[in-house]
Amino acid sequence: MKKLIIKGSKELSGEIHIGGAKNSVVALIPASCLTKGKCVIHNVPDISDVAMLIQMMEYLGSKITYENEVLTIDNQNLKEKPIPTEFSSCLRASYYFMGSLGGHFKHAEISYPGGCTIGARPIDIHLDSFKKLGFKVVEKDGTYTMNAMKLKGRDIFFDFPSVGATINVMIAAVLAEGTTKIINAAREPEIQNVADFLINMGAKIEGAGTAEIVITGVKELHGAEVDVIPDRIEAGTYIIIGSLLGKNLKISGINKDNLISLTSKLEDAGVKLKYNKDSILVSKARNLKAVNVKTTFYPGFPTDLGQPMSTFLTQCKGESLFEETIYENRLRHIPYLNTMGARIQSWEKKAVIIGSTPLRGRKVKATDLRASASLLVAGMIATGTTEVDNVEHILRGYENLVDKLNNVGADIKLIDD
Ligand code: UD1
Repeated sequence: MKKLIIKGSKELSGEIHIGGAKNSVVALIPASCLTKGKCVIHNVPDISDVAMLIQMMEYLGSKITYENEVLTIDNQNLKEKPIPTEFSSCLRASYYFMGSLGGHFKHAEISYPGGCTIGARPIDIHLDSFKKLGFKVVEKDGTYTMNAMKLKGRDIFFDFPSVGATINVMIAAVLAEGTTKIINAAREPEIQNVADFLINMGAKIEGAGTAEIVITGVKELHGAEVDVIPDRIEAGTYIIIGSLLGKNLKISGINKDNLISLTSKLEDAGVKLKYNKDSILVSKARNLKAVNVKTTFYPGFPTDLGQPMSTFLTQCKGESLFEETIYENRLRHIPYLNTMGARIQSWEKKAVIIGSTPLRGRKVKATDLRASASLLVAGMIATGTTEVDNVEHILRGYENLVDKLNNVGADIKLIDD
């Protein structure tokens, strides 16, 4: 088990450079399985989810090199093999192998995907869509087997704009016969990033990033290159930290257009942000005032920033209403914030946060990736020392977290317990 030891209340200045987006790269790597050509992915973050995907690709026969944030994938010897639970349970994004191996080989076998335990995370929209494209899908003892003679494009309506299902259907449909239209598709920027990679490979896709995506099937794809877009959740977490502890802290390598739902809330609360082309300068704000935050799908406030934002709200004067609308269990960090001195009442997926309250260092425990981020922020603004247990999760989504923060003045250690 890993633990963060944080000595709080340190002023932060200097620069934090943002890495490539976790939620893009975890789809781009499996998407490469659509071709036997050589793929090069730039700006790949050094996170544990990437390390796990490299192992999965090598298991499937790919030759991989990963140096200076460039991942080269040679799929000449790629084979379709069952993906066992030791792999699939490690990350949610393993479900993208269903679309890519299924699209390429018309057969895929994969155990149920893992990921953070933040509530029921069914994949029914993925499975229904695969069936509509022509797959026979059989589930037995937690393993899905997908088979098709051929795939045929068609209109697919999503009851809910699922990020994973949008990407997975796009991946599966690029080699189907005819046209697939995804209606009520998710619009997260990572979807456009994956579509750009597929287009570079020879796919025909229009409308990615909008609620209607049209994919016209092609016979074959070839190797291609792509840049991973900046991680808006990593950037957002550091902007939140900067608005509580920064002194001209520069968050660089970002796309500010993808962060508007966060930056406009912070500005409503009284944070002053200075924007440059691909960076934001942020300083500790005084007299923060309460704001209401409701997470929802893009371009709304991202659920993955909800937990760190709830820590920010403890420092705002007045009553903030915080509401999570995507997942069932994203408030499990709240009791820990309360032990540190916060005044938060939560019920179902809502919380009233009464501020501002000074936070004191305590021993707390992270329950998932973004809960770790929320407790990290809390520990950094608290007086004294905070120990956050069970932080393996945070390494899945934040590259070089400790170095990036210590380089700008934080005092954080990551230790094995
Ligand atoms: C992706 C992100 C995750 C982010 C989420 C929402 C990746 C690897 N993960 O997760 O960080 O929090 O988007 O922005 O990109 N649902 C169903 N049936 C389905 C699919 C989803 O009921 O077939 C429900 C889920 O239970 C969940 C909600 O829809 O409540 C969100 O799912 P989805 O948008 O698919 O998110 P993920 O792809 O799992």
